Amino acid sequence: MNTELSESIEYLETILAGKGIAEQISILNKHVGSQVVFSSSLGLEDQVITDMIATCHLDVDIFTIDTGRLFKEVYELIDRTNKHYNLKIRVYFPNYVSVENLTNLKGPNSFYDSIDNRIECCNIRKVEPLKRALASASVWVTGLRKDQSANRENMKLVQWDADRALIKFNPLIGWSSEDVMDYIEKNGVPINPMHQEGFVSIGCAPCTRAISFNEDPRSGRWWWETSHKECGLHK
Ligand code: ADX
Ligand code: SF4
Repeated sequence: MNTELSESIEYLETILAGKGIAEQISILNKHVGSQVVFSSSLGLEDQVITDMIATCHLDVDIFTIDTGRLFKEVYELIDRTNKHYNLKIRVYFPNYVSVENLTNLKGPNSFYDSIDNRIECCNIRKVEPLKRALASASVWVTGLRKDQSANRENMKLVQWDADRALIKFNPLIGWSSEDVMDYIEKNGVPINPMHQEGFVSIGCAPCTRAISFNEDPRSGRWWWETSHKECGLHK
């Protein structure tokens, strides 16, 4: 474990308090050197963070995990975002041997058959590539918000991720969905058109559906499961 970093969480909480997000990221950069990386799913929150990173020229590498099962609109948004901000979002893919083995053994849609199968697919297509993407990072920036789900209510602005031995920084943790939409509208941030069709939280195509306005925001993810609404990226 990186003891120095793990012990600096309380100190960071104090010096980051009350600062704007761009300044918070610059402070983290200074604190850890330059290995600050941001994982983007191209969702609404992530597009807000990408806008801040690009417009404030922050020293943060942006990456996305292409699970191989994303909506075509996500691929279009990767292109549109890169052009809009003159960026190159780095793309990580799952290990092809693992995907071949899984598909040849269980078929292309095994995740519908059991929770174990679903977690197996998420591990292969998301969690393993994330591990590689974070291998040399000291700070991992995410677009998590507390009110996205009960699982996320106790998450903090800055926390120690013991499994990955790095600092996890969740700059939008206290934002509401209205705050996110306001920022997007005011700043002309490019977004996925599917959000206007009831897709609130967008993951892989076979595991995401549109929801109606009175449903829980995460109810469109793995909707056939009752209790598991996380894929293992955020434990
Ligand atoms: S998930 O765990 O259910 O898939 P969610 O879609 O809510 O996560 O996104 C939460 C955060 O996880 C995002 O803000 C982003 O930091 C990260 N994330 C989720 N999916 C991806 C992806 N495909 N590539 C990179 N980061 C991702
Ligand atoms: Fe597989 Fe669905 Fe998880 Fe995507 S969300 S990795 S398709 S189980």
